Amino acid sequence: MGPKAIIHLDRLKSNYDLIKEKVNNLPIISVVKANGYGHGGVACAKALETHGCRFFAVFSIEEGIELRKAGVQSDILIFSRIDANSLPEAILHKLTLNLCHEADLPLLIKYVEENGGCPTVHLKVDTGMTRLGIDIHNTENIIHQLKEHPEVPCEGIYSHFATADEGDLSFAHAQESKFKSVIKIAENIGFTFKYIHFSNSGAVINLNQSVTNMVRVGMSLYGAFPSQEVPMDIPIQPVLEFKAPIVNIRKVPAGTPVSYGGVFTTESESTIGVIQCGFADGIPRPWYQNGHVMFKGKKYKIAGRICMDQFMVDFEGQEPHVGEEVLIMGDGADGCVRMEEIARSINSTPYVISTGISGRTRRIYQD
Ligand SMILES: Cc1ncc(COP(=O)(O)O)c(C=O)c1O
Repeated sequence: MGPKAIIHLDRLKSNYDLIKEKVNNLPIISVVKANGYGHGGVACAKALETHGCRFFAVFSIEEGIELRKAGVQSDILIFSRIDANSLPEAILHKLTLNLCHEADLPLLIKYVEENGGCPTVHLKVDTGMTRLGIDIHNTENIIHQLKEHPEVPCEGIYSHFATADEGDLSFAHAQESKFKSVIKIAENIGFTFKYIHFSNSGAVINLNQSVTNMVRVGMSLYGAFPSQEVPMDIPIQPVLEFKAPIVNIRKVPAGTPVSYGGVFTTESESTIGVIQCGFADGIPRPWYQNGHVMFKGKKYKIAGRICMDQFMVDFEGQEPHVGEEVLIMGDGADGCVRMEEIARSINSTPYVISTGISGRTRRIYQD
């Protein structure tokens, strides 16, 4: 008994197909970092690999090794900065590293000299995110060095959008033109990158894929739109169906305070159900203010503050039974509560909500 995250792998694959169609069949790097945005990184990667995906991205070397140990054969790009101590493991597990700092190229050149091998890398250029990525003014120099040092195998070049999911796309367009200038520099030097990628979910929805030959998406694969400012015109479906059981039922008179602080009181005689799922399991705590669950196709209010392990629902005149389940978020037989709706209500994002699915939540995979 407790919270369940039913992961609909069939929907993950159909979202993958919809995104592929949207980008005119460009290959997709499926981003499965942070445990597949809370959906289970290994299971999602394996399902997508069977479905034809040939490239994955995670954040840490450890996440990459986890995928390899689970049998994922496709390329795996690591988003974090290169750590000199991880180079032997990256080579052993054939992980593609992120060449995102000027100082890391000499480090790799020295490593090959001393050890005779080097992981494959993708060159990351900062075009406006101001996070990882070499300074745009240094790209010419770095690409020249890459040309002189073929022992450092650089297969790809990429950058990351900061605002591609916003209504105002002027900054994203400026990032795009910077990236195009970098690609031109590489062409002039005569250095060819096999893979060129830039677009995340927001850019897949909002921008044309002009200079790139792949896209790099996460959130939309899991069936949530990255923000409220993008056109929601791709019929992606929530992969997650988050449910939890009713473990206690109590009839109470009007005016009964419920949960910590007594901030909720019943308006009339009512049935209060205790649900076995708390903020430690992934239901966002601020959602209690306007939040609801679905039960047998109808909405019921969350009654009072969400606790660490449980929360209460005002079932009004309904008479649910102990053991029956409510839908907290996602799409299922009881109805639909989209992550985007919760995110909007609590001033958060689907990224924060989905990666918060944790604690005692059991993931159950359905295909
Ligand atoms: C470098 C990089 N590329 C791609 C993505 C995927 O972005 P999204 O989930 O918006 O598609 C992320 C996610 O944060 C990222 O950090």
